[in-house]
Amino acid sequence: MMIEYNNQVFGLHGEGFSCLLRVNDYGLLEMLHFGAPVSTGDAEAFVCRPGLGWGASVLLKDGDTESCPDVLPLAFSGSGRGDYRESPLCLGGVSTDFRFHSYEILDGIASMEGRLPQAKGNAQTLKIKMIQPGAELTLYFSVFSEVLTRRTVLKNTGEMPVQITKIMSSMMDLPGNFAMTTFDGGWIAEMRKHTVKVTQNRVVNESTTGFSSYRHNPGFLLSEPDATEKSGRVYGFNLIYSGNHYGSAQQSLQGFTRVLQGISPDNFLKELQPGESFESPEAVMAFSDGGFAHLSLKMHRFVNTCIVPEYWQFKERPVLFNNWEGCMFDFDHNRLINLAKDAKELGCELFVLDDGWFGARNDDKAGLGDYTVNKKKLPYGLFELAKKINALGMDFGLWFEPEAVNPDSDLYRAHPDWALTDGFIPITGRNQLHLDLTKPEVRDYIVENVCGILDGAPITYVKWDMNRHSIALGAKAHDYILGLYEVLNRIFTPRPHILLESCSSGGNRFDLGMLCYGPQVWCSDDTDPIERLTIQENLSYLYPQSTFGAHVSAAPHAQTLRDTPLCTRGNVSFFGCLGYELDLKHLLKLEREQIAEQIAFYKKYRAAFQFGTFDRLENGWQVTKEKIALAAVFRKLLPAAPGYETLRLQNLAQEKQYRFSTFAQKLRIGQFGSLIKHVVPVNLDPNGMILRTADRLITMPDGNQRLTASGAALMAGVRLLPLFRGTGYDQNQRTLSDFGSDLYIIEEEETLENT
Ligand code: DGJ
Repeated sequence: MMIEYNNQVFGLHGEGFSCLLRVNDYGLLEMLHFGAPVSTGDAEAFVCRPGLGWGASVLLKDGDTESCPDVLPLAFSGSGRGDYRESPLCLGGVSTDFRFHSYEILDGIASMEGRLPQAKGNAQTLKIKMIQPGAELTLYFSVFSEVLTRRTVLKNTGEMPVQITKIMSSMMDLPGNFAMTTFDGGWIAEMRKHTVKVTQNRVVNESTTGFSSYRHNPGFLLSEPDATEKSGRVYGFNLIYSGNHYGSAQQSLQGFTRVLQGISPDNFLKELQPGESFESPEAVMAFSDGGFAHLSLKMHRFVNTCIVPEYWQFKERPVLFNNWEGCMFDFDHNRLINLAKDAKELGCELFVLDDGWFGARNDDKAGLGDYTVNKKKLPYGLFELAKKINALGMDFGLWFEPEAVNPDSDLYRAHPDWALTDGFIPITGRNQLHLDLTKPEVRDYIVENVCGILDGAPITYVKWDMNRHSIALGAKAHDYILGLYEVLNRIFTPRPHILLESCSSGGNRFDLGMLCYGPQVWCSDDTDPIERLTIQENLSYLYPQSTFGAHVSAAPHAQTLRDTPLCTRGNVSFFGCLGYELDLKHLLKLEREQIAEQIAFYKKYRAAFQFGTFDRLENGWQVTKEKIALAAVFRKLLPAAPGYETLRLQNLAQEKQYRFSTFAQKLRIGQFGSLIKHVVPVNLDPNGMILRTADRLITMPDGNQRLTASGAALMAGVRLLPLFRGTGYDQNQRTLSDFGSDLYIIEEEETLENT
């Protein structure tokens, strides 16, 4: 990567992309190009020549059509001074007109001054200073190997206060026609993908709840009309921020699409006193001309190497057991120990105690804010519990919800003024209020209490939850987020070994800001594998699978009542950080065996599942790491007389030979109902005891395919074993019906011979 300056042109070059900026004769910063790699000397090819001009436009200099800001592609702009497209900056209702002043090229990143997290790693940074009377704007552009980041700092250099009502981290004008893809949803329904055409009407991806929110994930994509998974031009955008975000795209008459990224201006207000500065969060952007898959790969590599804490980069994550869905608030020391024994037997490596271990927390109405261990449930305390679990051979992890307070808590009774209010009668969400993290004494209280617990027991994992989804603070919402980042920093920077998984009723805070502190996020409270196919697949556009907390839970499922086979629950969760979250006590022996096999299998291929190259296939998912690939195909409803199915693998070496085999799965007898009479000599009652007992004791193997073929053939497409089509059962057929799935192991032959 490299940044250079030549004849008023800045060339920012990363792997597979270039960005060219030009300072024009009026000091405006033109965005000449952001896309495929070009050389800085090519700048001339991208300059827009307005010629005789566009009618009815405002010129900075009479008679010079090249001085018309409205028709130029720009990298930042003002308001009220000739560029009438959406402005990235609004200063309390007055015009703004910043012009180029100076620049600096720095090795590495330019560290932020405040408390916002930022990308780290190998980079070069361009710092451009723009000025207008009384204010200075610094634009930072950092080139990481495959990604460009941007942020904006505004300084009040005048003598009067300056009011900021909108300040974007990035603005760019891109030529061409685009569609904008956003990821929207709500509780248990995160990451619904929506794509709309960008025209002269503005398309906005925004959150206004105070948090990044599952209503609209901060990440979005722009793609050209002919872009596909494997070809075409695609841009990816994201923001390293956990508060209200804003992203917009709008095409101009001249054919440029203006893209803005930053903090949502909704209810935003910051007053800068003379000498004070405001720094925006860092925006992330990437380009690929290799379609959505390649764009995702770039984003994955960036998150894995420049966002998640260094300690956890490419470190394999433990298979965890979480007691929430199995117990909710109903547990005690002995029940936890019994669960832990079972979890250990199955192969889990980390036992996580979720909500309900403190204060009067016997349901979700009380206790948040308090940190005293609930002695009725845990008479021996956390230390003894953790030690017992360690003695079983497992690590111990704990749930916290430090940002919230229940009105029914000792904390609220002692400090009602610590709750965040807006002057109206407080309104609760899940019976709770937010603590006012803009107050130093509140931040100290959280840090002291959480650290006290973390240091008082051998805790190696924290689930940091947050279940109230709006901040009653309007303009101060940003200060709350800064307070949160300070708290996270103070707790986790000195304790890098603690694996932090953030959560907000599932994926309500799945963003790059939180990922800077903890490498995992709980994707969704919806662990139904069929729902997870949507959630995890859509997350994969912008986030690597190493960031997905993915658990196997009970069926029928608590959120959908859908009954799915255990193997599909496993196969979906494998493509993330695997965990189990169900009551283990009542598992059948055959389920235990199957779970133990799943965990052993996952551990063997864990590095590939968590850190391999992830591919979205037509009918499933694939991960590839070095000489091993794992691919799953998923079914929703099985049609009658299904045709042959082809699995087109990706990323293999054309000329190498691979062994392709099925991860053996089992069928439950119950799946066949009364049809079982056709394969056993006696006519059994499908509702009778014999068959019901058999269903609990006996399994039948599902189809098992084995072959050897070249990478070229496997990438051209393997014809999979036929699916059940009403003509009987044998092992040359895949017999799992609705919601079934199959998992394949593809290993380079050489690897097998050497092992
Ligand atoms: C919401 C989370 O998403 C759940 O996983 C669980 O931790 C509950 N909170 C506990 O109250």
